[in-house]
Amino acid sequence: MNPLLDSALPAPGAAPRPALVDRYGRVLDYLRIAVTERCNLRCVYCMPEEGVELPPDGALLTADEIARIVRIAAELGVRKVRLTGGEPLLRRDIVEIVERVASTPGIEESHLTTNGLLLESRAKALTEAGLTGVNVSLDSLDAATYRELTRRDGLEVVLRGLRRAAEAGISTIKVNAVALAGITDREYAGFVDLTRDADVTVRFIELMPFDQHQIWGTGRFLSAAEMVADLRALYPGLRPASGTSTEHFAFRLPGHKGRVAIIPAYTRDLCGSCSRLRVTADGKVRNCLYANDELDLSAPLRNNAAADEDIAAVFRLATDRKAKDGWHAQRRPSKTPVQFVRASMTQIGG
Ligand code: GTP
Ligand code: 5AD
Ligand code: SF4
Repeated sequence: MNPLLDSALPAPGAAPRPALVDRYGRVLDYLRIAVTERCNLRCVYCMPEEGVELPPDGALLTADEIARIVRIAAELGVRKVRLTGGEPLLRRDIVEIVERVASTPGIEESHLTTNGLLLESRAKALTEAGLTGVNVSLDSLDAATYRELTRRDGLEVVLRGLRRAAEAGISTIKVNAVALAGITDREYAGFVDLTRDADVTVRFIELMPFDQHQIWGTGRFLSAAEMVADLRALYPGLRPASGTSTEHFAFRLPGHKGRVAIIPAYTRDLCGSCSRLRVTADGKVRNCLYANDELDLSAPLRNNAAADEDIAAVFRLATDRKAKDGWHAQRRPSKTPVQFVRASMTQIGG
């Protein structure tokens, strides 16, 4: 452990002391790290068909850099890490990255969010590497709709990936469906059925305007409140359940092994319990999904003269500057030149 850090790793017998507490008293113990901006799908709410401009390979954080970030973050009180992207399973060294994250002292949960296309072949290795949870993006259970939304075939492959993840023994398995009016609201029953015999959580997610302006504004937005009302009407037996901080509304149907949850990603009712910091694939710290500005981590990471404390200082500053909620974050004036503003979720890192 680095004695220079205001460490949160508990000494034997001592209560943990979180170091990353923001101005609103929120403890930031959940770090989301994007490991690539590449993706093998072209979801209409995320990317245009031709893709987005990618950072040069040299800009990407290396496995060593990710391991160092996670070690320092853990010393600052981070307990949960989620690897995101782009599509994280496209990284050839993803199993090594998971192994290094999961074996970091202090890290209790090592999760990954994926589109599931490569999960079937990777699930076993990822579990052996210590992965404790996987969230799989799946927006339709109908092959033709899946193809329309993702611009690729793959529904069966993703379903096989989900099954393999369960067989491999990954403890937490979730399905993320980005909600679109006229699509998701016709598929509630199919998604809810997934929770009957398997301990999976199906989450319906509000659409966010990070789509390079493709379908935001086309009337497809479906709010969390509408979804809660729809589901309550369809399933009067729904009982409230506990959920993570994004799962602002979580339910269980009697007799079902899994849960259903709703994420108000756009209306942002979840900000009061936000516990997140983000690192982009090119090494910038974002303190809010809706933030206009970022703090650079790659310069101190790549400066041989920089100490762990210089990295920790970036996390502390990001914590201190974290806005009260995503609305305030979005309204803050940006110092980032407009050509560097991130327009797609694949660049922000989910
Ligand atoms: P759990 O740890 O399982 O709750 O996962 P998660 O919801 O934190 O992560 P996941 O990558 O599965 O994200 C699910 C959806 O929630 C995505 O559409 C995210 O963009 C959205 N989301 C995740 N974090 C935030 C956040 O900090 N703010 C908002 N507004 N939305 C978020
Ligand atoms: N709005 C809401 N969710 C989105 N995701 C990607 N783009 C958007 C968007 N514009 C989701 C993915 C994945 C998660 C990390 O973010 O489907 O489940
Ligand atoms: Fe946290 Fe910002 Fe997301 Fe709100 S919008 S939950 S403050 S990251």
